[in-house]
Amino acid sequence: MPLVASDDALAPILDLARDLAEGAGAIQRERYETDLRIDTKSASIDLVTEVDRACEKLIVEGIEAARPDDAILAEEGHGEDHDAPFRWIIDPLDGTTNFAHGFPRFCVSIGIERRAAQGDYERAIGIVYDPLLDERFEAVQGDGAWLRDRRLAVSPETEWGRALVATGFAYDVHRSEDDNLESFRNVVKSARGIRRDGSAALDLCYVAAGRVDAYWELKLHPWDVAAGYLILEEAGGRVTDFVGGPPDRSGREVASSNGALHAALLERIVRTP
Ligand code: IPD
Ligand code: CA
Ligand code: CA
Repeated sequence: MPLVASDDALAPILDLARDLAEGAGAIQRERYETDLRIDTKSASIDLVTEVDRACEKLIVEGIEAARPDDAILAEEGHGEDHDAPFRWIIDPLDGTTNFAHGFPRFCVSIGIERRAAQGDYERAIGIVYDPLLDERFEAVQGDGAWLRDRRLAVSPETEWGRALVATGFAYDVHRSEDDNLESFRNVVKSARGIRRDGSAALDLCYVAAGRVDAYWELKLHPWDVAAGYLILEEAGGRVTDFVGGPPDRSGREVASSNGALHAALLERIVRTP
């Protein structure tokens, strides 16, 4: 049985998010390994392609047409972020470097937050769609995390020495001393293996699915993590900052695991000023 939203208010929003994620994914599938216009953003290694923009346009126009009052925070700047009962946080193409190189690992990420009673927002829906594998990871708060008909659960691993761990590096890695390399070394020297696959949203989903046991990264952005946090939490995983505090929505410090290995992960990743 696939995911069904038990909250009637969320069911139509989940359907819309699924349609838009798959619509953007279809663009990515079609344009994969074709000639692309590629520009740079914050650094020479921070790429954006015409496909990032086309996917974002499709998603944002779809939301604006169906739900004009909702707020939108999208990586490439479409839509309008404001106070509203629902807020969509969108990474139209997570894994742009992979996409530009023909490395088959990228996705669409859509997180939806709902305004809670105190005016704060809580995570309500998360969808991460990998168009090449046709894998749609999804979660609704309280209803679990799912991949197709399978309810997701994190791995049962308890031994750090048997852990497969994922990470990534920020686009300022050439010039910043806060470069993740000390943590990277600590993990390489102690865990079973490490992966740097280039899509933060999929990395979080892979912890949720038990494909990796832990994942950490620094200097991410809200659109990288909005969907993945909920999918991971609904799969029984844990996400915190680098000292075990509540995860920051900004994605500045992301330490995630199956829960059992969280202390072992935090021991090895360093917070640099
Ligand atoms: C990037 C990817 C990558 C991570 C970077 C992100 P983008 O997102 O998630 O894995 O290491 O920090 O910025 O630019 O491909 O959307
Ligand atoms: Ca991203
Ligand atoms: Ca992106």
